[in-house]
Amino acid sequence: MKVAIIGQGYVGLTISSFASEFYQVVGVDNDSRLVEDLNKGISHIEGVDSAVLKEWIRVGRYHATTRGSEIADVDLVVIAVPTPLTSNRKPDLRFIDSACKTIGENLKKPVLIINESTSFPGTLRNYIKPAIEKYSTPTIEHLYAISPERVDPGRSDFNQKNTPRLLAGLTHEATARTREFYSKFCDQLVEVSSPEVAEAAKLFENTFRQVNIALVNEFAQITHSLGISVYETLDAADTKPYGFMKFTPSAGVGGHCIPVDPTYLAAVAEEHGAPATFIRRANEVNLEMSEYIVRRVAEDNGGNLEGKSVLVVGVAYKPNVADVRETAAELVIEYLRKKGAVVTWHDEVVGNWKGEASAPLQGADIAVVITKHDSVDAKKILSSAHYVFDTTGKVAGSKGL
Ligand SMILES: NC(=O)c1ccc[n+]([C@@H]2O[C@H](COP(=O)([O-])OP(=O)(O)OC[C@H]3O[C@@H](n4cnc5c(N)ncnc54)[C@H](O)[C@@H]3O)[C@@H](O)[C@H]2O)c1
Repeated sequence: MKVAIIGQGYVGLTISSFASEFYQVVGVDNDSRLVEDLNKGISHIEGVDSAVLKEWIRVGRYHATTRGSEIADVDLVVIAVPTPLTSNRKPDLRFIDSACKTIGENLKKPVLIINESTSFPGTLRNYIKPAIEKYSTPTIEHLYAISPERVDPGRSDFNQKNTPRLLAGLTHEATARTREFYSKFCDQLVEVSSPEVAEAAKLFENTFRQVNIALVNEFAQITHSLGISVYETLDAADTKPYGFMKFTPSAGVGGHCIPVDPTYLAAVAEEHGAPATFIRRANEVNLEMSEYIVRRVAEDNGGNLEGKSVLVVGVAYKPNVADVRETAAELVIEYLRKKGAVVTWHDEVVGNWKGEASAPLQGADIAVVITKHDSVDAKKILSSAHYVFDTTGKVAGSKGL
């Protein structure tokens, strides 16, 4: 069976790598430099080993392309393109639309089309299917299904094989064929009654994280005002064996999922006249953390950061990945600069970001730790500046949340 996977980013390349063991995979991406690298067997994703990619290429199981025409003879298409927000924080389905155009214009026979991109309930039925039909001449009766992706880049305990996968088709045949496709490389498939349930469940999973992160971020501000340790208090609460799940405070949320997906749910809620107050407020609390952290740092340094050298440690949105999308470090740096601080950053996992290179981990007046990669020694962080403020709870001996 030949499979096309549209989008070769975190989700698409991960799926391509697992699927290549059983199917012939063509990875479609409109980023020509990425495609060039992928065809040399160079992976840009933590969790997809370049050696494994090279092997799939060598045995003819995988290749990447920018050409939509190469999907003409496939049996199955997976959509794995970004679903960001517009500048006024509304769902932006522009990449889904362009993927539908590629599919509609190039497929010549009926196939199964599975969407893995995260979007609001109704996207498969009311947006993807009509869009593909609009771009196909003549209209072809494809099968449509959803199977939202749950991959957590950089994580080693859960992967495509052992993470249960939700799925639902627009028809029984679509559901059955989707199950058959994933059953080769996923141990547990969970069929739900409609694509809308799967789409909503995916959004709720990430909203649950967003709201709980906001709650613990607010709690960190409360415990600080009470003069007690947030970490000790959370550990104490966590001794309760039921009804509690521990989240830890941070500088905010980042990545392509947690800061974005809940807004998709809020948008669809408001469209249907339902409240989304928690989601909206959680978003604000998480965004406000950057300002709170800079305020705390300023307070500890005589209220004035003018001309102080500040080293932001860790600009990736989470440990051990190079992903800087929606990273809280960006807002923290912005607020520090507004206060007149001279800001550099250290993150050798990221390397280069926004035209700046990672600075050495030493010699600053102030260090603010946003993300601590495992490869960075806590003691080195502590000696990198006269004053260290840690938002991760991993640098013993520093000031922090
Ligand atoms: N990153 C995660 O951890 C994660 C986890 C679960 C779900 N998701 C969801 O999966 C989807 C993809 O996310 P991602 O993190 O893989 O994004 P990404 O930015 O890493 O990769 C997307 C890729 O799609 C390509 N692309 C965009 N439009 C295209 C088109 N029309 N044709 C071909 N290629 C195109 C881009 O060049 C890019 O390489 C999103 O909906 C996201 O919310 C992401």
